[in-house]
Amino acid sequence: MKKTTTSFVCQECGYDSPQWLGKCPECGNWNSLREIRVAEFKPQNSLVAQKVNIEPKRLDQIKFQKKQRLLTGFSELDTVLGGGIVKGSAILLAGDPGIGKSTLLLQIGLKMATAKEKVLYISAEESEEQIKLRADRISSKKNSNLFIVSSTNTDLVCEAIQKLNPALVIVDSIQTMESENVSGLSGSVGQVRYGAFQFIKLAKTLGIPVVMVGHVTKEGMVAGPMVLSHMVDTLLFLEGEKFTSTRILRSLKNRFGPVDEIGLFAMEDAGIKELTSPEQLFLSKESVGAVSGSVLSVTMEGTRPFLIEIQALVVNSKIPIPRRVASGIDYKRLELLLAVLQKHCNIPLSGMDVFVNVAGGIKLSDPGTDLSICLAIISSFQNIKISNKVGIGEVGLLGEVRRANSLEKRIKEAQKLGFKDILSSNKFKTLRDVLASLSK
Ligand code: TYD
Ligand code: MG
Repeated sequence: MKKTTTSFVCQECGYDSPQWLGKCPECGNWNSLREIRVAEFKPQNSLVAQKVNIEPKRLDQIKFQKKQRLLTGFSELDTVLGGGIVKGSAILLAGDPGIGKSTLLLQIGLKMATAKEKVLYISAEESEEQIKLRADRISSKKNSNLFIVSSTNTDLVCEAIQKLNPALVIVDSIQTMESENVSGLSGSVGQVRYGAFQFIKLAKTLGIPVVMVGHVTKEGMVAGPMVLSHMVDTLLFLEGEKFTSTRILRSLKNRFGPVDEIGLFAMEDAGIKELTSPEQLFLSKESVGAVSGSVLSVTMEGTRPFLIEIQALVVNSKIPIPRRVASGIDYKRLELLLAVLQKHCNIPLSGMDVFVNVAGGIKLSDPGTDLSICLAIISSFQNIKISNKVGIGEVGLLGEVRRANSLEKRIKEAQKLGFKDILSSNKFKTLRDVLASLSK
């Protein structure tokens, strides 16, 4: 008979306790601990048990394999990963339902399955026919080395992986996988943790990279256990608005690459496409400079500069405490910049309603766009058009214009797109100087 142990696991954060508690001491949630019986599970004749090698090695004995990374066929994704998928790594792709995770992964599978390399796509959500239908929609190419398994049984799937020995495994999704070795329904912390642990163990011992899909809750966390994000090497987020086609891929954690790179994609009728020239994405060309209240800037996302448009609207307020509405920038930052404008540039904004928006729905946390926000507000307030100018710089509390990080890169991007007149810390020391140059 199998020996079992009992523990109580928090369904929110994965906290493990030998006794039941009303409140989780880790995350503070009430009534979130559930009893979980774990059978002691010994993989007797599995390949995993035989391949484990725990002999300590000296650092110089460890061989570094050159061809460690697999290219996915999407250069945007490869950059986010730091140059491709590392062999034996575990990747978690998280995102809202319907955002395009399954589509993206199926496309990667289709691209990476070649005559020599097999790819295994495990679907615990859709039937084989559904996947076939989607694959036909995405590509007309016949691909014989993409293997599909439609099953929710973690242990059977692990056996299938060992038998096939593919170059890449895709698990869609980890929350729907379940095993008889653990009690609890699929999606519970115990099941998800067990499933992820088995797949990661396989990935490490056989050197097969595994990509797992994780659903996101309303609060924006990877559903069920946060523990999952500690277990994987790379945590990717696919985000975007349901009603627009733009999708942004971010890495929140990466043991093998940078964490601030983003990848840009567009969801189209025939699958997801990468956007390699995103210049037009966050820019409404018609309005730039044609009306007062619109100013261009260049923001950095990771190591990539983007030209963006800041829009401001300043009108007389009819209420005692004027409205300040910021979308795409931090509300507190807007208040601070308004105070600087009032104090150091003598612009009477205290009785005005101020609305600021970043065109294209991108969210900025980059202080290098401060100057352009100030300029957009002034442009709207004084009803002057600031066309063909790009503002790049941080604004300090004393009204000084500070150098934005990667200034040269930003300037180059603006020039590449045909904007020669750049207002930055290279030419101006204070916000007042910039204003004086505008009225000339
Ligand atoms: P899906 O990949 O199933 O999302 P997820 O796995 O993240 O839940 O994507 C579903 C949405 O994508 C659905 O609304 C239809 C749309 N879609 C396209 O626009 N084009 C396509 O080629 C495909 C396959 C789906
Ligand atoms: Mg899906």
